[in-house]
Amino acid sequence: MLRDSKGAEPLWPPEACITTTVAATPVAALAGCFDTVLVRRVALSRSGPGCGLWRLDIANPGVESFAPGQFMMLRPRAFALDPLWGRPFSIYALAPKTISFFIQVAGRGTAALAGLEPGAPLTVWGPLGNAFALEPDVRTLILAGGVGLAPFPAYVKKHPAPSRLSVLFGHRPPVAAYPFKEIAAAVNAEHFRECKPGDIETFIALLDERIRDYRGGLILACGPQPFLLTVKRLARKHNARLQISLENRMACGVGACLGCVTKMAVAGDSPEPAFANVQVCTKGPVFWADQIRLEGEEPWT
Ligand SMILES: Cc1cc2nc3c(=O)[nH]c(=O)nc-3n(C[C@H](O)[C@H](O)[C@H](O)COP(=O)(O)OP(=O)(O)OC[C@H]3O[C@@H](n4cnc5c(N)ncnc54)[C@H](O)[C@@H]3O)c2cc1C
Ligand code: FES
Repeated sequence: MLRDSKGAEPLWPPEACITTTVAATPVAALAGCFDTVLVRRVALSRSGPGCGLWRLDIANPGVESFAPGQFMMLRPRAFALDPLWGRPFSIYALAPKTISFFIQVAGRGTAALAGLEPGAPLTVWGPLGNAFALEPDVRTLILAGGVGLAPFPAYVKKHPAPSRLSVLFGHRPPVAAYPFKEIAAAVNAEHFRECKPGDIETFIALLDERIRDYRGGLILACGPQPFLLTVKRLARKHNARLQISLENRMACGVGACLGCVTKMAVAGDSPEPAFANVQVCTKGPVFWADQIRLEGEEPWT
């Protein structure tokens, strides 16, 4: 295992990072806003769209626990006034001295984060949002696409009955760039690398098969929008129970700016489904898939 120069903290693979027992439910009182610094950044892959996957470890300013699925807002001081807002990232691991994130460069905010040097100051707030359901007695299938894998090492670690868990992970950069190995060491896990046009059909067929097999259980999904659309469509086809984590764009992260809303079904008198806008940052990011309408999804019939 790689270690830093003081030999204190693991760099990668990060199994030993996840040492804190996570709470059964998010504890709102633990959320806070903190000034902290980057401890280290690790380049995991520099290839592929978005040019790069990074692991960032920040000094833990006093966060004691989180529930897998929760996220934090990160705003490096280097943002100055542009970009104005922090960016949301799933908490990947929490240790007494560090909090770790797994970041794909997607635009200027993530590029700036990936360019930070150790010691760079950041303001962070969280843990925020809700968490994935954990049903120890229920067969559970985890479906992850790309950086959507980030919340699941902690989920697997926390689950009291790992033999009931399975993971299917789709990705484009090499699998070694992702924290897949630590998941595969603990539970039944398979991955599929999309290398060429046409591979996507094979992956969708695999998703179809696995979702069909788990229709009596629980399915959890996190990944890019097209991935979530496909998973949701297949879950409806097989009448499977599915939770998805949304990655809507966020600004405040605490329910105030309404920048992250999604359409959620609400009870009404009309036979037509009725929807209300809800904040993903406070009502989510995890939702039961049948309660929300995804961007790009066909209207419900
Ligand atoms: C709860 C939550 C958890 C997340 N966890 C992770 C994580 O663990 N690792 C990770 O790498 N990313 C994660 N994301 C996504 C990450 O926050 C965005 O990639 C990041 O905010 C983009 O910022 P940027 O300034 O680099 O991109 P921008 O410059 O703001 O945008 C770059 C491009 O990406 C598009 N874009 C940006 N954000 C989104 C979005 N959310 N949905 C669709 N298109 C978008 C823009 O339209 C633009 O084309 C998470 C998002 C949420 C809401
Ligand atoms: S990000 Fe401001 S309300 Fe959700």
